[in-house]
Amino acid sequence: MVELPAELRAGLVTAVEGVPGQRLAQSVGRLIEAYRSGRPPTAPIMASGLDVAAYAAYRMPATFAAVRSALGQVVESFPGFDPRTHLDVGGGTGAATWAAAETYPGLTGVTVLDQVAGALDVGRKLAGLAPWPALRAAAWQHWSADTEDDLPAADLVTVSYVLGELAPEARDRLLERAARAARLLVVVEPGTPAGHERVLEARSALIKYDFTVVAPCPHQHDCPLAGTRDWCHFAARVNRSAIHRRLKQGELGHEDEKFSFVAAATEATGDRPGGRVLRHPAFRKGMVTLQLCRPEEVAPRIVSKREGPLYRAARDAAWGDAWPPAGTSA
Ligand SMILES: C[S@@+](CC[C@H](N)C(=O)[O-])C[C@H]1O[C@@H](n2cnc3c(N)ncnc32)[C@H](O)[C@@H]1O
Repeated sequence: MVELPAELRAGLVTAVEGVPGQRLAQSVGRLIEAYRSGRPPTAPIMASGLDVAAYAAYRMPATFAAVRSALGQVVESFPGFDPRTHLDVGGGTGAATWAAAETYPGLTGVTVLDQVAGALDVGRKLAGLAPWPALRAAAWQHWSADTEDDLPAADLVTVSYVLGELAPEARDRLLERAARAARLLVVVEPGTPAGHERVLEARSALIKYDFTVVAPCPHQHDCPLAGTRDWCHFAARVNRSAIHRRLKQGELGHEDEKFSFVAAATEATGDRPGGRVLRHPAFRKGMVTLQLCRPEEVAPRIVSKREGPLYRAARDAAWGDAWPPAGTSA
């Protein structure tokens, strides 16, 4: 379970205070439709202050959870990475900045770029509540991906839920510039076949630019799932606030945000895991089946009770975990 920072949770309540529930719900419906269409929009999807408030309340907890989970994998695979600066490209209301600040409290400089001034305004207000000075002092800059300028250099660059809003050529140009700017670049997309496809394109581009894949892949050969009916994705569970429950008209107290991602660095990282668990483990008496991505293939690995400590580790393993756990071999 990913916990939303309390300050962000409180800020999101304030962000929608006074907005009639029906108007908020209509705007959420419009956003859902636009994101589901899968077509790159011809104009910004967040078209009004109401849309920005709706995005913040309805999507930001989930995109925060996705980026936070992705960065959790990065921390394990690249423990020596200790960024000082963070650039969030297409950062909207700043979900990724909260995830990065929580993961890397040593950050001293944060910059957010986006085309929607209203989203930057809401992001700035929310960030003002953050417990991390670097996020409170973040620079929120109006920017369009259509401009050809270089991006400011940063140790960590995030491009979270943005590529799907760009046409293919614009995606390529943005990735090239983000790669020139970053020491570690994290691209996050919805955990759908189309989102994974875009992540694979980003992964190929980064390998071409001599980056080392840090997570989630345990290798940088061609993805074994490319061209199959399967796709690599993970789930981040996040608690729903009362307002979130109302907006999503869901009964559950939580939601599982499915996301695909790739993180890659300009330097070698040293600690890539031997494999990655790609599904919820399946349990039968005395046996755990892990669907594993390993350098050679994606295939099930049955861990039996006879394997002692490894079996106990498999019982505790979760979708998205590295495998085998540090200090064991399998
Ligand atoms: C789905 S939102 C994601 C926001 C944020 N990164 C997150 O994870 O919650 C997509 C963001 O990309 C921005 N965006 C899309 N196309 C853009 C463009 N051509 N130039 C600048 N920003 C763009 C949008 O304004 C929006 O804030």
